[in-house]
Amino acid sequence: MAKEKPLAVRPPALRRHVVLVGLMGAGKSAIGRRVAARIGARFRDADTEIEKAAGMRISDIFSVHGEVEFRIGERRVITRLLDGDPILLATGGGAYMDDNTRFLLKQIATTVWMRAELDVLVKRTSKRGNRPLLKNGNPREILATLIDKRYPIYAEADIVVDSRDEPHEVTVNDIIDALKARGDLA
Ligand code: S3P
Repeated sequence: MAKEKPLAVRPPALRRHVVLVGLMGAGKSAIGRRVAARIGARFRDADTEIEKAAGMRISDIFSVHGEVEFRIGERRVITRLLDGDPILLATGGGAYMDDNTRFLLKQIATTVWMRAELDVLVKRTSKRGNRPLLKNGNPREILATLIDKRYPIYAEADIVVDSRDEPHEVTVNDIIDALKARGDLA
C-alpha cells in the first residue's frame, strides 16, 4: 500500500493575524518570537522588514529621510506583511499610533498591547543605543512622555498583557493563554 505523503505545507497555527504593539523595550520582538515558536506560527518583525525593504538601518532612515518618510514605509510594509496567511507580527512602537495602520489592524488582526512600566522600558532600552527617538534627550523623560501620549491609544488593543521584569516565559504564557481564550489559535 502506498505510504501517505507528509503534508508539504504546515497548516496555519493561527486563525487570524496576531500583532504585538507597545513601547520600545516592551519586549515585542523577543517575546513575539518565542510565542510564535511555541505555537508553531510564522513570525515577522516589522522593523526588520522595513530595514530589508529600505536597505538601511532604522536609525539611518530617520536621519536621512526623517520620521514622516519612515512612517509611510512602515505602513506600507505592515500592510504587505498582513496580506496573506495569518502571522504573528511584532511592530515598532509607533506603528499603532498611525491612524491608518491602527484602522487596518482593527479590521484584520488580534492586537496585543504589551504594557510595561517606565523603569522596565528604561532598563531594557538602555542595553542598545539603536533607537533614534531616544537619542535626542534623556531617554527616561522621552519614554515618560511617550507613555502619556501613547498608552491611551495602545489601550484600544484587544488584549493587554503586562510585560514585567521577570522571565520571558511568564509573558509568553500570558499571551498564549489570552489567544486561546479568544479562540485565535487554530
Ligand atoms: C519607534 C520604535 C522602534 C522603531 C523606531 C520608532 C517608535 O521600534 O520602529 O525607532 O516610534 O516608538 P521598537 O518599538 O521595536 O523599538
